[in-house]
Amino acid sequence: MSANQFTDMLAPGIHRHSDKNSWMLVTKHSTYAVGITSEGLLLQLYWGTRLPNFADLPEAQIPHERSSHDVALTLAREEFPAFGGLRYGELAAEALFADGTRDMDLRYQDAEIGERQGLPELRLHLRDAIYPFEVILSYRVDSENDLIIRSASFTNTGKEPIVLKKAFSAVWHLPQQFEQRRLTTLAGQWAQETLVQQRPIVADTVQIESRKGIPGSNAYPWFAIDTQANEHQGEVYFGTIAWSGSWNLRVSTRVSGETAIAGGINEHDFAWILTANQSFETPDFIAGFARNGFNGTRQRMHRYVREHVLPQPQANQPRPVLYNSWEATTFDVTEEGQSKLAERAATLGVELFVIDDGWFPARIHDRAGLGDWRVDPQKFPRGLRPLVERVHELGMQFGIWVEPEMVNPDSDLYRAHPDWIYYFPERPRSEARNQLVLNVGRKDVQEYLIGLLDPLIGDHGVSFIKWDMNRPLSEPGWPEYVQSGHDAREIWVRHVQGVYTIMDTLRARHPQLSIESCSGGGSRADLGILTRTDQVWSSDNTHPDARLFIQEGISHILPGRTMGAWVTDTPSDRVWNEIPLRYRFHVSMMGMLGIGGHLLHWSDEDMAEARIWIDAYKQIRHIVQDGEQHWLVSPTASQGTWAAVECLTPDAREAVAFAYRRTNPFWNTTPPLRFQGLQPDARYRIKTMGQSETPAIELSGATLMHQGLTLPLGRSSYASCILHIQQI
Ligand code: DGJ
Repeated sequence: MSANQFTDMLAPGIHRHSDKNSWMLVTKHSTYAVGITSEGLLLQLYWGTRLPNFADLPEAQIPHERSSHDVALTLAREEFPAFGGLRYGELAAEALFADGTRDMDLRYQDAEIGERQGLPELRLHLRDAIYPFEVILSYRVDSENDLIIRSASFTNTGKEPIVLKKAFSAVWHLPQQFEQRRLTTLAGQWAQETLVQQRPIVADTVQIESRKGIPGSNAYPWFAIDTQANEHQGEVYFGTIAWSGSWNLRVSTRVSGETAIAGGINEHDFAWILTANQSFETPDFIAGFARNGFNGTRQRMHRYVREHVLPQPQANQPRPVLYNSWEATTFDVTEEGQSKLAERAATLGVELFVIDDGWFPARIHDRAGLGDWRVDPQKFPRGLRPLVERVHELGMQFGIWVEPEMVNPDSDLYRAHPDWIYYFPERPRSEARNQLVLNVGRKDVQEYLIGLLDPLIGDHGVSFIKWDMNRPLSEPGWPEYVQSGHDAREIWVRHVQGVYTIMDTLRARHPQLSIESCSGGGSRADLGILTRTDQVWSSDNTHPDARLFIQEGISHILPGRTMGAWVTDTPSDRVWNEIPLRYRFHVSMMGMLGIGGHLLHWSDEDMAEARIWIDAYKQIRHIVQDGEQHWLVSPTASQGTWAAVECLTPDAREAVAFAYRRTNPFWNTTPPLRFQGLQPDARYRIKTMGQSETPAIELSGATLMHQGLTLPLGRSSYASCILHIQQI
């Protein structure tokens, strides 16, 4: 893994050049290079299209200052700039030493190359010039996907405590350029998550963040920066922070054309006390470079999530078609009602039956019950087991909803432990949805929750839990912790660690368990949570018009197998328009198909049609869940009038295309759909899936990609189709 070659093309992996004191992280299509200056400072030397070797790499040198206002250290492309000296650009770290010094001076010590989590890893050790403080920067290289995964670990090697006031995962620098760049982010709110936003980057700082203790729906911790890229062409830098709490991502550009991106755990109200020999590890900040446009970034993220993030063995198994009872029954949960729904669901070919909120004591509305994770004897006089057995008899797995981090003041748990939540003694405890947040940083709270959830899963044959989280943290106090000499600002991190610990424990004890991460929809859908969950509930908004935008946004990061999408009843959208069941199915079938409608109200025709689509989904889910996804027509670009998505096996032998036309006020024919990624010389058989299957036609890959295919959409509104394309 090391070479000092000046002539050959360096192979993908990590290479060190000892004379130059620099490293090249080489991926299939990109190079990321760092080097040490003679003063021992670590600089980024290059990031972009793959370079042959070290020969042309610049020396690591601090640039000359431009003026006493534009000082050298601020202009330097430091890999991990810490607050200290003349640094006024983006910072990665800030600390307070015991003697009151708030200035850091990190210098390179040594390096090692190894392997972690199946990827080659470079570890660069930095140490403060004076104080006993060490930072190890980790760079893992995913060569296949052109990704660099960075994180940092801080260690107090002395005796006096050190307060970490900022602990970002990484700072990334883009090549200096005058040509204007563009920033793409995902913004939203509850029931309107992950909408694509684009803005020109001017000399300024743009910050996106969450201060809620969860990633939140106002922004997703992801960015993409391009100059003139489109869906399939052009250079794009992109990245995401794998953290399920408050996060912060800053993009700063100078008039002279330098752009830096910094991100990690949000520094707002953050502190972490490092006592003697203690370390603090940041979450991963994954970033990459693609030359084939936004679709190039999407494919890379999807592969990375499937190969390196999602838990095994579930990541290699087909995700089941699920039924969820929430929209049908809300809190009106009974054994009989759920059994009837399960019977109907089974006849459709549903594989996993999930009972949502409302199964535990006092949960007849959202004002009581959270925290008491016991089966309600009134709703289930015989316990939960008869229902589970019935579901199993019907050939389905059983899943259940929980919201472990929450407590209603009206609950036995809160009455017994009012101190188990975040609170400041003299302040009121703010409720949202009538609930308070449990301090899951506390070991006793973790043990309590594991003590209830473990038997709930083990004793009842639960295969799936939907883990919900319906409000942000507030009054982030922990009086007992403060009384014992600690700093309660740690709770922002301890909360996330607590959630991870509980999930990891449950998964270790129940290796076949799957978890869905839900947070009132898609407020916690980051790659940190996906390391221990299998899918996310992407939004409470199941309206197909809204869904196309939400699903397009989330597709920049998450593959089809993780994106939960239910078919629900219309009218359910508060504007009372009817959308064909077919269209609703087609929108949900591009992700992890679920049914959320009230099946007892579905007509025989609806049921018959649902069977057709569920059966069709099972035929194509290997492509939808794990194939390459191409957004052939962006709903954002077409302002929601139409959209088309193609999913393709990596060998391009099989594809499926979904096309949606919401409205057609001018009775125009829809332009032919031009495919991506097929083999030009191969011939393909194209079949419309579902009810009105038209006879198959045969065309070459080249024709499908360049001339395109006229879609059988007619002229009506809410027209849609699914095309199954197989190489002959
Ligand atoms: C919010 C979730 O997003 C919904 O799907 C449902 O589970 C409710 N919570 C239940 O309270």
